[in-house]
Amino acid sequence: MNFPSQPSLAMADFRRLGNYIHAELGIKMPDAKRSLVESRLRKRLTVLNISSYEEYCAYLFSPQGQKYERPFFINQITTNKTDFFRDCQQFVFLEKKALPELLSSVPIGCFKKLYAWSAACSRGHEPYTLAMVLSEYTEQHKNIDFSILGTDISTEVLNVAQKAVYAHEEIEPVPMALRKKYLLRSKDPSKNMVRIVPQLRSKVRLCRLNLMNKCYTCVEPMDIIFCRNVLIYFEKETQHQILHKLLDHLKPGGFLFMGHSEIIKPAKFPLKPIQTTIYQKVVTGKRQ
Ligand SMILES: C[S@@+](CC[C@H](N)C(=O)[O-])C[C@H]1O[C@@H](n2cnc3c(N)ncnc32)[C@H](O)[C@@H]1O
Repeated sequence: MNFPSQPSLAMADFRRLGNYIHAELGIKMPDAKRSLVESRLRKRLTVLNISSYEEYCAYLFSPQGQKYERPFFINQITTNKTDFFRDCQQFVFLEKKALPELLSSVPIGCFKKLYAWSAACSRGHEPYTLAMVLSEYTEQHKNIDFSILGTDISTEVLNVAQKAVYAHEEIEPVPMALRKKYLLRSKDPSKNMVRIVPQLRSKVRLCRLNLMNKCYTCVEPMDIIFCRNVLIYFEKETQHQILHKLLDHLKPGGFLFMGHSEIIKPAKFPLKPIQTTIYQKVVTGKRQ
């Protein structure tokens, strides 16, 4: 029996898409990624009832495609793997070292609000993990409040983060005591879903932000920045440019948490290495 053959992505079309991805998202697209791009975009061809990648490219790069297809294209191209309490040791450091240090200068009886940013937050696991850790901490320290910003380039993952509904398997890394406190079970037991409780959701503001943007307008000065497992997709020079922009939004004395494959040379930045993947912004004499 003969099956109709699947369309394939020609190298010329892949390079056109690759250059676009690199320019718009900052993500490196070596030739070895051709089959990955081909498989990720196959779904779009089916949805749009388009029979070839050539035709898909023509649509994507047309004014109409740029208006309507661009967000779907970005959603398909980005890698969104994430977890609750991913690299758990970083959250232990946050609770045991970073938070006490950040709050050490607050005079007794004074109020302090902490600002944390999950840059490239994917489907929300990282900002909600931060919210659980900060919520636990602030419960013990009554004059402290917090606010978390989660940003990502993909509208699809931001929609998931906004709903804050997750499959039961995904909450495996969340300690039992925190599950009981911060996760609501679906009323329909057959669904096996959980939702982050409203009081935690209200602490997390989500906004679409491309880290390639010249400036990050939706971002206030931060005490804590998590930027993990995203810079790895960018070239060195782009990584450095993004890091400088992130650091413009980190207060002196604030902490930066990176992914394990994202080793940076702190000498190039106003950063002091604290532990593998954890840095602190140096306090200079200048007012910032
Ligand atoms: C692998 S996930 C990492 C999620 C989370 N930080 C973690 O470590 O679990 C990478 C995320 O970066 C986002 N991303 C990729 N390029 C981006 C860009 N130029 N600006 C903002 N986010 C981007 C993707 O959409 C994806 O959600």
